[in-house]
Amino acid sequence: MRAIRLKAPGGLDNLAVAEAELAPLGPHDIHVRLHASSLNYHDYVVVLGGIPCEDGRIPMSDGAGVVVAVGGAVHDFVPGDHVISTFFPRWIEGEPDIAKFFEVPGDRSDGYARAEVVAPATAFTRAPRGYSHTEAATLPCAALTAWRALHVEAALQPGETVLVQGTGGVSIFALQFAKATGATVIATSSSDAKLERLRAMGADHLINYKTDTHWGATARALTGGRGVDHIVEVGGPGTLAQSIMACRMRGNISLIGVLTGFAGDVPTAAAMSGNVRITGITVGSRAQQQAMVAAIDATGIRPVIDSVHPLEAIADAFRLQASQTHFGKICLAW
Ligand SMILES: NC(=O)c1ccc[n+]([C@@H]2O[C@H](COP(=O)([O-])OP(=O)(O)OC[C@H]3O[C@@H](n4cnc5c(N)ncnc54)[C@H](OP(=O)(O)O)[C@@H]3O)[C@@H](O)[C@H]2O)c1
Repeated sequence: MRAIRLKAPGGLDNLAVAEAELAPLGPHDIHVRLHASSLNYHDYVVVLGGIPCEDGRIPMSDGAGVVVAVGGAVHDFVPGDHVISTFFPRWIEGEPDIAKFFEVPGDRSDGYARAEVVAPATAFTRAPRGYSHTEAATLPCAALTAWRALHVEAALQPGETVLVQGTGGVSIFALQFAKATGATVIATSSSDAKLERLRAMGADHLINYKTDTHWGATARALTGGRGVDHIVEVGGPGTLAQSIMACRMRGNISLIGVLTGFAGDVPTAAAMSGNVRITGITVGSRAQQQAMVAAIDATGIRPVIDSVHPLEAIADAFRLQASQTHFGKICLAW
């Protein structure tokens, strides 16, 4: 079977088409013919060698396809079902704990840049109704992270205000989930052209974070001085101070991204005096993914796909991601 393998120590030039074996189908497994994946920053760090993994690892945490066979003890799926992978195959439900985080496809185990896979049925959920495989492949990491931030941790209510940062996968899903809930959305971007696209998607207030470096105060002013209820924080150390400035007293900051780095100065006194709730988020559980898929079925949200590339062009797709010129999700399809 055709697959992409990453030669140690990593690097985009060490990605190549190779062969892979299909594991035998056990009683609790499903056999999935895969058709699409989508790029996440985590995959990018893996392929650059930033997360050391086994020589020959098959990358990509997100996969979508169709079930071709099920083991004798599998009752949730039948052949023909359209399915999507889960980011943490060992986090089925309940609270996060370290054992549930142990395995991420494409990192601690082989991922989904391949034609077929046999895996435990619990490592997949059904895909939203009417989605193409490419659309479905955008969901397991980026969409579930946005979903958990707003609907699990923050319990977003209609009429509340949400701030999203930039136009990557997580932020655009957060915008879509927030608008579908009846929230007011403040969106930031480095590009005025991208801000106009966010406006067309329903963003209520737009801020260019490159020209308005004090965008936290601007966002607060847009709420009449009260502050934003929920902030989907994907920037990290370079944006957290502005997020704390923007956040209302007892508001939520979902700490998700590392786009500006892995560590930095934090205005702890401002966070403390604002009684701000800062919650670290690492994607979500299979049960949360099932709830998100049900919500997508009900709302009809469709993902924003920047571009679709053949599996063999995986390195160029990552180069596009690194350029940060994209809007929404970059996908692979085969
Ligand atoms: N914790 C988790 O569970 C989890 C899950 C998924 C992703 N993440 C993390 O979340 C971050 C975003 O992921 P993604 O997949 O959405 O990435 P992505 O698609 O690569 O997002 C890139 C976009 O982020 C925006 N951006 C970059 N620097 C920014 C800054 N200083 N302020 C505001 N926006 C900025 C840019 O938008 P503009 O061009 O519009 O400026 C850029 O195009 C990454 O750090 C990723 O590792 C974490």
